[in-house]
Amino acid sequence: MPTVLALETSCDESAAAVVRQGRVLAGAVASQVEEHARWGGVVPEIASRRHLEALPPLIERVLAESGVAMAELDAIAATVAPGLVGALLVGSITARTLARLHRRPFLGIHHLEGHLCSVHLGDPLPPEPHLVLLVSGGHSELVRVDGPGAYRRLGRSRDDAAGECFDKVARLLGLGYPGGPAIEAAGREGDPHRFRLPKGRVSLPGGGFHPYDFSFSGLKTAMMRLVRELQEAGGPLPLADLAASFEQVVAEVLVERSLRCARDQGLGRLVLVGGVAANRRLRQRLAMAAGEIGLDWRVAPLAYCTDNAAMVGVAAEQRLLAGCLSDPGLGVAARLPLEEAAVLYGTPPPI
Ligand code: KG4
Ligand code: ZN
Repeated sequence: MPTVLALETSCDESAAAVVRQGRVLAGAVASQVEEHARWGGVVPEIASRRHLEALPPLIERVLAESGVAMAELDAIAATVAPGLVGALLVGSITARTLARLHRRPFLGIHHLEGHLCSVHLGDPLPPEPHLVLLVSGGHSELVRVDGPGAYRRLGRSRDDAAGECFDKVARLLGLGYPGGPAIEAAGREGDPHRFRLPKGRVSLPGGGFHPYDFSFSGLKTAMMRLVRELQEAGGPLPLADLAASFEQVVAEVLVERSLRCARDQGLGRLVLVGGVAANRRLRQRLAMAAGEIGLDWRVAPLAYCTDNAAMVGVAAEQRLLAGCLSDPGLGVAARLPLEEAAVLYGTPPPI
């Protein structure tokens, strides 16, 4: 029954958690959102500095709250890829230093594997194989999971990630950062069918469209055009209807392509994770569509959709159970495909 201290610093949330057998003994997240909101997005330099300040008290807090001593930890883990390099380094160096000082094993974790594991923090994970729709600020992917660590990406966004599109459209509507929660709040009472918006598709070289890939940049442009037209017509912007219509089309696209992919692949189970998985309209849309065709679906608990360290801890537990450990010299990487997550446990370290 492994006990893990996990750190997450890949973007703009500093987080620490102590996890034991898929249960969170203590977890804390210090969000930098307010600081970055002034700039309309994440400023990497500010993120690194804030992680450096936030991490030590967070670690002290989760250790105290969990009542777990350093000597009881089976491993210390940190997200090492993908993400902002400076930000990742803060978590990784902190974890490796603690591991060395306290003679504990170290595990570097792939951020997306963390998101995939977030669903464990709610219901038990459905047996493999299953399909995961991972939608965050940096990624929109459909991943087939055939076993622990056995991933195959079947679909992805060719331009903006879904969360990134939420953030950009929120800025366009003057709703602030991060865009997802702001759009959700603005659109709560709105009419989701008032505006017809495009479901961006990705052309195949030989004709037709890629069945599982996403494209959100056309939707962003359509929103820009629509807002301009409405502004030129005068009067206040119908923010609630704009936000609701935008959310609706994003939810429809994500759910339609996921269900098609699950059907084509003969997969009867679908898992929804990542920051955008917190979206109420998306969760409802998935529940309805999956229900209609009898697809078994799960979604990460609301509290663990956006970045947190508990999900990193669960991923670390799974890796530990599979006999994986990272070299203390392991570095960090801005990019690393999920399919290659196993390289984080190789010797000599690849990064
Ligand atoms: O997973 P996450 O915390 O960080 C990344 O790994 O990127 O995802 C952050 C993204 C942001 O783009 C944010 O706008 C979006 O998730 N998000 C949401 C909601 N909450 C967060 N999008 C739609 N609806 C939400 N309720
Ligand atoms: Zn994330």
